[in-house]
Parts: sequence; C-alpha cells; structure tokens
Amino acid sequence: MTTDSSYFTDQIQARCRDPIPYTVYYGTFAHTPILGSMEVMPKTAIGVDNTGLITFIEKSFQGDLLKLGVEKFGVEEGSVKVVDKSGSETKFFFPGFIDTHIHAPQYPNNGIFGETTLLDWLNIYTYPLESSFKDAAVAHEVYSRVVNRTLECGTTTAAYYGTIHTRATEILADSALKAGQRALIGKSCMNDHSPSFYCETTEESKQGTLDLMNYAHKRDPSGELIQAIITPRFAASCTDELMRWLGDLRKSKNCYCQTHLSENHREIRWMAQLFPQYDSYTDIYYQTGLLGRKTILAHCIHLTDDERDLLVKTGAGVSHCPTSNSSITSGEARIRWLLNSGINVSLGTDCSGGFSPSILEVARHALLVSHHLVMSTHNDKEKLSVKDVLYLATMGGANVLNLSDKLGSFAVGKRFDAQLIELCNRDSNIDIFDFQRPRWGSQDPKVSHTRFDNLICKWLFNGDDRNVDRVYVNGRPVIYRV
Ligand code: GUN
Ligand code: FE
Repeated sequence: MTTDSSYFTDQIQARCRDPIPYTVYYGTFAHTPILGSMEVMPKTAIGVDNTGLITFIEKSFQGDLLKLGVEKFGVEEGSVKVVDKSGSETKFFFPGFIDTHIHAPQYPNNGIFGETTLLDWLNIYTYPLESSFKDAAVAHEVYSRVVNRTLECGTTTAAYYGTIHTRATEILADSALKAGQRALIGKSCMNDHSPSFYCETTEESKQGTLDLMNYAHKRDPSGELIQAIITPRFAASCTDELMRWLGDLRKSKNCYCQTHLSENHREIRWMAQLFPQYDSYTDIYYQTGLLGRKTILAHCIHLTDDERDLLVKTGAGVSHCPTSNSSITSGEARIRWLLNSGINVSLGTDCSGGFSPSILEVARHALLVSHHLVMSTHNDKEKLSVKDVLYLATMGGANVLNLSDKLGSFAVGKRFDAQLIELCNRDSNIDIFDFQRPRWGSQDPKVSHTRFDNLICKWLFNGDDRNVDRVYVNGRPVIYRV
C-alpha cells in the first residue's frame, strides 16, 4: 500500500464535489425531526439536485416520476435520474447516522477491555495501541477500515479523535475524504499526565493542532466534508496553559472542539485534585474557554446541577455513549434530565470504550441504559423510546454539531445524507411475517402506519449492517451493495 500523501490525489475531492445527476428518489421515507415522534412518508418522491441538496418532497405521489423531476428541477429529461424503491414494503430511506464521539485509532481494540474501568483501561489497553500510530502505515490500515466500517453501518457523519500524531491524523482526514464520509478530525492533545511513550510537549500540541487545521482546510477548503476539531483529550492530559491556548484558538476561529467530561467517579476525583482552583470538572473547561455552541462533550454522566447550568449557558452539546458506559462500568447518564434542561444530546460509539462501530446498536443500548436508570430511580420519565433514541442518532447529532439546517432529517434545503434499509434482504437477522407488512394503499392507513412503526422497532432491536443496502452522503452513493 502507498503510504505517501500523494496516494490521495485530486480524485478524492472529485468524489465529493463533482456534479451528480438530478435524481428523484421514490419509496418510503422515515425520519425523526422532533424528539419523541417519527414521521413516515410512504409513496414519497424526494428530489436531490446536482450538488446533493434536497429540492423538493412530494408526499403520497402517484404520477410519472421522470416528469415530476423535469418539472421540479427545471431541466431536460435526459438530465434526470429516477431511483424507484417503492417495490418492497420492508425497504425505507432513513437519515444517515451521526456518531459524535469515536476514537478511530482504538478500533482494533473493540471488544477488548476485560474488567477494567476508565483510568486502568487507558493505561493497559488504549495508550499502548494509540502510540503505535507514529507509524503512518498503521494509520493507513486502521483508518481506512474504520471509515469503511462505520459507513457500512450507516454513519454518514462522524466526530473522530485521532492520536497525538499529526501525520497519522492527516491520514484519517484523507481516509474520510476518500470514502466520502463527513467527518470532524481531531488531533488528540496530551502534554501532561500521560505515559512517557505517549506524550507530547506543549509546543507539539499547539503546532500539531494548527498544522492539522491547515491540512484539513487545504484538502477540503469548503469544509463541506471534513473539518478539523480542537481536541484536548481530557483535562488531566492537558496543562492549564494548553487548555487556555486551545480555548483562545476555538474562540478566534469559531471552530469545533471536543473532549471528555464526567465519565467516571475516580476520574472526577482526580480532576478535583489536579485543578483545585476550579469549582468543578466542567468549570475547568468553562474557565479555560473550551465550551461553546460547537463543543461536543462525551459522557456527562455524573454532572451536578451547577455543571449542567454551564452546558446550558454555553450551548455545549453532549455525546451519550451508553455502550462504552456499560462496558467500562462508568455509569448511566441522565439523558432525559439533560434534554429537559434544553441541552442538545446525540450518540457516540466511543470505540473502543464501546465495542460496536454501529450507531444503531448504540441507540439500542441508549434505550436499555435508560431502562436501567429507571430501575434505580423508579422514575419512569427517564425512559427513552425507540423514537427518542433514533432522534438522538440523527437529528440530535445534527443539533450538537450546529448543523440542524443541513443534516439530521429529510427537508428541503438539507443535504441528502441517507441510508437505504431493507429488512428482508440476503442474510438479514430479522424475520418479517406476512401479517406484519404495511400494505400501503390497500388497507386502513392507520394499520399500515402501526405496522411500519413496528418494523422500525424490529430494525432498532434486531437490525445491523446487513440491512444497509446503500448509504448516500451529500447525494453521492458511498456504499452501494445492491
Ligand atoms: N478519557 C480520556 N481518554 C479517553 C478515551 O480514549 N476514551 C474514553 N471513553 N474516555 C477517555
Ligand atoms: Fe472517548
């Protein structure tokens, strides 16, 4: 394999920028634009223009699709493509998933965590693996696999952590661009309390962050597909000086920022010892300028009311990582409490604290963890429904990224980032019986809708990447199985 950066040439950029045919997609569309509800649109035509934007949505459409495209797009017949997926009642389009917290270099460790908890897990499993990314060949191999795997699982947008190595993190940016995935790419900053084999100087943290920003901008000047994200790993691994510098950079460039917050009790006590001058773990990030509307905070499990208020005040969003939180025994985040406070919440795989690259599986775990919370609090309102967790997986992610005008649901003016799901394909893990099929148009619509809602439940609990026939980012097919 070529390990030189010339491997990634102009053809990568062509993939996300070249004009595509004006396309009319037809079939069943489902999405969760509002927390707690799902809209299902059978026999619907969605028009996507030659840049990947949704330009029209015609619900319950019965006529000629080509004619509709010609009229609506205002172009000639030969320029319009029709993708008719209405032939199967178990097939539907759903918005692409948004994974707001994933460590790309940890992917080889998925499932390997033993009985450790956070701080031991970092030292035993995580830092040794991440340190191997000083070798660019390792980065090439792992990063192309993780990007492809997450795309196959329907993740159209991901907020990635890389390692401390700038070159390896540039390779991560190129891997996402090449595969056509939207991505925020972070060079992890670690200039304190890190092992000698995996630590950097303050200068290296700063320069690496600036270099990555320049690189991402050079590769994708519009920022449509990839952007750099400021990434102080967590307060313990950064000095006060570095966090303040990164906070100033965040403010001056109005750019994205991500870190970990309030994951584990021992970690929280450690932060209090390391930073006695601050009121709380959250206050460290607040005072150093790291919290803003484009900041993603992973976990937020054990926040106090005052800390919650700082999130509300700054508009910082949360990445809920229930698979990770269960695996390394961190706790059960109070998602309903955060949502009711007006905080934006999304989902993160947190590979490899979490063992699965699939946001569908994380959504399933989010639902189950909320049930566990109810078992200890006896407050039924903490429960998250199927519709709630699918909202967190799509629209919630768009809100956290401050991209709700572009991503997260099907609406005119948004990007066509979508997955085409088939529940009855090939080797699907789901069995659908004849009496469960929604007979759109030939039975009471209420019955059809109830049946379709039940299919979505079956997808959430039993579906996986085998049900993903296609994935589109910005109107471009990036996974195309059938
Ligand atoms: N806290 C600091 N680093 C990490 C990490 O890599 N994963 C998780 N889950 N928590 C962290
Ligand atoms: Fe993490």
